[in-house]
Amino acid sequence: MSRRKKLYEGKAKILYEGPEPGTIVQHFKDDATAFNNKKKAVLEGKGVLNNRISEHIMENLNRIGVPTHFIRRLNMREQLVREVEIIPLEVVVRNVAAGSIAQRFGLTEGEPLPRAIVEFYFKDDALNDPLVSEEHIAAFNWASHQDVDDMIALALRVNDFLSGLFTGANIRLVDFKLEFGRIYDQNDMTRIILADEISPDSCRLWDMTSGEKMDKDRFRRDMGNVTEAYAEVARRLGIMKETGNANGDEAN
Ligand code: TMP
Ligand code: ASP
Repeated sequence: MSRRKKLYEGKAKILYEGPEPGTIVQHFKDDATAFNNKKKAVLEGKGVLNNRISEHIMENLNRIGVPTHFIRRLNMREQLVREVEIIPLEVVVRNVAAGSIAQRFGLTEGEPLPRAIVEFYFKDDALNDPLVSEEHIAAFNWASHQDVDDMIALALRVNDFLSGLFTGANIRLVDFKLEFGRIYDQNDMTRIILADEISPDSCRLWDMTSGEKMDKDRFRRDMGNVTEAYAEVARRLGIMKETGNANGDEAN
């Protein structure tokens, strides 16, 4: 375990070489950052919760035919995933005005948007992940028009699925961020699949009844009880048997 090769360390995850060619071990850390690393903390148990929540979501997406990198969970903090060539874009889907779109267009947080909006941001910390258009994506060769069409179609399918999943847990899916990767099939055909994670770190989730935030905005906005909120999301999705057990000591 300690001898395996570290391929990449990001803000919240580490990627290790997987046991077979074409696989990677994705390790979830407890580290939280916001505003491009300006704000940092260790939130004990967050990695365990995000590993479980992302597993649950990716597994269900695989089941409904949305291709993802997820293969299987290995342990409390790690999952085996397919190696992909990551596309350097963050794909954001929004149902309700919040965060940067509310600021950009002067919208009131909580206002439903007229339709689901898909946005692309260029993944570059030094530039603060700027919003980009399809023109930029094609001109700078980050992805082809076909890739963009595929990402939009997949992002909207994920949105439909997640909206239903969270509604069933009395949670409003306000917005979320996806990352996609490219894989090479036999005869060198490329295919776009969902990569990274889907967790309260990458979504805005509001309690449907009280409006209370159950996502990383609790950390960004210093609201406290961050892991408790993540544990409640897991509990409502039927993943964790009870709240407050984020230390990795549950039965399976
Ligand atoms: P935004 O309103 O700040 O643009 O965020 C939109 C969604 O994307 C929100 O659910 C949080 C998520 N997100 C990330 O996962 N990573 C990021 O770096 C940013 C800025 C947002
Ligand atoms: N993920 C980004 C960071 O770590 C920003 C955010 O999620 O707010 O800085």
